[in-house]
Amino acid sequence: MAVVTICNENKTLKNIDEITKNLAAFGIDYERWTPSHPIADDAPAEEILKTYSREIEDLKTRGGYVTADVIDVSPATPGLDAMLAKFNREHWHDEDEVRFIIAGRGLFHIHTTSGTVLAIEVEAGDLIRVPRGTLHWFNLCADRRIRAIRLFQDTAGWTPQYTSSRVDENFLPVCFGLAHLSMTT
Ligand SMILES: [Fe+2]
Repeated sequence: MAVVTICNENKTLKNIDEITKNLAAFGIDYERWTPSHPIADDAPAEEILKTYSREIEDLKTRGGYVTADVIDVSPATPGLDAMLAKFNREHWHDEDEVRFIIAGRGLFHIHTTSGTVLAIEVEAGDLIRVPRGTLHWFNLCADRRIRAIRLFQDTAGWTPQYTSSRVDENFLPVCFGLAHLSMTT
């Protein structure tokens, strides 16, 4: 399940009802898709899309999305640092950023219109929808691995628009999940 930190209040939410409610207050949709389908997280993209076709079609109906694909990022991905550098600075898009996490984890920071910054660490089974125009940035966690279904209203709208605010520099991209794992292993 996701871990959400309200950075300004130094408050961490780990309860699904609290997470859903607090994110909804800022316009962020969060859902936990469980039980997840019994499919290997390294299955071919077409198989993942087919397995989750019912959920994908449901989201398309709800959000007006027209296409879906699977993004797969690992330390072996060519040009990974350049790819990450595109998304780890504050930006926004002309369309929603919708991700359903299949494997790995990642950290979204959301800079809300009220000035509050939320850190949302997502993992397998988490669905997040960041509405168009929302200021945000994204980091991978230390294992630099994420696989996710993405949905688009229009892929052309997904180009990052940078704010150059540098507000992202004030927040460390630290993932609780891995910190927790390293403390317990
Ligand atoms: Fe983005």
